[in-house]
Amino acid sequence: MTNPANYDHVLARDIERVLLSSEHISRRVKELGAAVSADYRDRDLVLVNILKGGIVFLADLSRAITIPHSFDLIGASSYRGSMRSSGKIIITKDLDLDLRGKDVLLVEDILDTGKTLNLVLELIRLHEPASLEICCLLDKQRPRDLKIPIKYTGFHLPDEFVVGYGLDYQERYRNLPFIGVLKREAIRD
Ligand code: IMP
Ligand code: MG
Repeated sequence: MTNPANYDHVLARDIERVLLSSEHISRRVKELGAAVSADYRDRDLVLVNILKGGIVFLADLSRAITIPHSFDLIGASSYRGSMRSSGKIIITKDLDLDLRGKDVLLVEDILDTGKTLNLVLELIRLHEPASLEICCLLDKQRPRDLKIPIKYTGFHLPDEFVVGYGLDYQERYRNLPFIGVLKREAIRD
């Protein structure tokens, strides 16, 4: 396991443990990009990303995909900056592109309760895409009422609150290049 002290980053001081180093993430994102490129050859691929946590993953995944595609953003938030899901999901930004007849790949940072993905899946289905699949970087290992079929998973994670690589705690730590667990003293709620 990488020591957070190895990262020349002020925010790394708040990290207890690094779960996934930036090199580890980057290797896996390249593999995912290769798999998507092979599976969606000759298809009309649109990546749909859920703001805000997913944009770092989207930016890297899109560049690891070697076939033509477009991407769009949808805003959905359930955490409102804290560590526990409020259960209520708010759509903060609608889609711009017409997804009818497109091969949509929903790109999400992390699957926790699954409520966010479930709601966004329902919204996208209303657009009648030709196909709809999910690519999720992190799948938290926890009991889940909602069964969400994930086509591509980056990593399985223990059920812990993590930050970095787009994921935030109170809107901070999104710019850490790795994924880690916060020190107790960095948590303020
Ligand atoms: P769900 O609706 O409970 O599956 O929550 C999914 C959303 O909550 C993700 O898109 C993240 O924005 C946020 N989230 C879930 N787990 C974590 C975490 O460990 N750290 C930071 N954000 C998280
Ligand atoms: Mg979030």
